[in-house]
Amino acid sequence: MSALSTTGGMTLRGLAISPPLALAPMVGLSHSALRTLVLEEGGTGLLFTEMLAARKLPQESDRTSPYLIRGTEERPLFYQLFLTENEDIAPAVDRLHELEAQGIDLNLGCPAPQLRRHGAGVFLTGDPQRVRILIRTLRAATHLPVSAKIRLGECLDESRLLDFCRMLEGEGVDLLTVHGRLDKEKFCRRPRWDWIGTVKRAVAIPVLANGGIFSVEEARQCLRASGADGLMLGRGAACRPWLFADIAREVYGLPIASSGRTKQEMFDRFAALLEERFPVERRLGRLKQFSHYFARNFRFGHLLATSVQKSETMDEAKRQAEEFFLHSAI
Ligand SMILES: Cc1cc2nc3c(=O)[nH]c(=O)nc-3n(C[C@H](O)[C@H](O)[C@H](O)COP(=O)(O)O)c2cc1C
Repeated sequence: MSALSTTGGMTLRGLAISPPLALAPMVGLSHSALRTLVLEEGGTGLLFTEMLAARKLPQESDRTSPYLIRGTEERPLFYQLFLTENEDIAPAVDRLHELEAQGIDLNLGCPAPQLRRHGAGVFLTGDPQRVRILIRTLRAATHLPVSAKIRLGECLDESRLLDFCRMLEGEGVDLLTVHGRLDKEKFCRRPRWDWIGTVKRAVAIPVLANGGIFSVEEARQCLRASGADGLMLGRGAACRPWLFADIAREVYGLPIASSGRTKQEMFDRFAALLEERFPVERRLGRLKQFSHYFARNFRFGHLLATSVQKSETMDEAKRQAEEFFLHSAI
């Protein structure tokens, strides 16, 4: 049900994704404000939400929940679920249909401690039979594209990894994202882009490569090493919201116009989006998390990160940022 295009896009159950560049699901980061900012910078073909508990989803309000708030321009948007129980799937999927999701992603790759408690995310993958049943149930519950996000496994075991990926494909997954690290590997370790290539060659569905892409050159290297059909960017997108546009232009040859915004204007736009869309108590934490990554653009960026970090209100954080951009933003 998925097709690759020769111009670098893909079609999943009739949904066109072009360019094949996706914003990764990231807790506290991949919300409406960052999604909108990267869309405005251009070059993004697909957006993901941060991971959402399937069990809680039916009770969440899309007007007040920071996980579900969404602007009309944010599409195509795949909602990422973490789950362990089959019975949670149908109510969650019904809610996602109401919310006009363009696709549903199953988190099979995140090793966060809160998922360990539930046995979800990467902790599910030790039991492929269980995953098979969950995917089968999800597939039967929706007409939307279904995707899955995985890591490479507990250890480098090619046949186990490929059996797992072929199982996902066989159960009707339309798109696979592979984060090129083993389950317990930290972000400081170099991702194994060549192993993403091993998966890519073994399945017919499109594969997005993920992990460690912070520049156009790294995007090129990753595509070369993996042969993947597209890329998913996480931290690189929070550091450089314009990176999708650069990759779309320089790697895929697409005529993406620059937004012309300075870095300060991007920071201000992000803060304004938080203020426009999020309840008061949900803004500052998200600004702090974004600043942690965005500060990496500057030689003295630690000044931006720490002054925003110490702020007790949005207004104080914005004043501190303004001060930084005035005097130290090199
Ligand atoms: C703050 C943060 C939160 C994350 N949250 C999620 C998540 O909700 N779901 C998920 O599948 N992966 C999550 N990840 C992993 C990213 O999606 C991605 O796989 C990882 O950061 C590697 O890509 P990158 O090097 O481009 O950042 C998270 C990563 C970070 C840094």
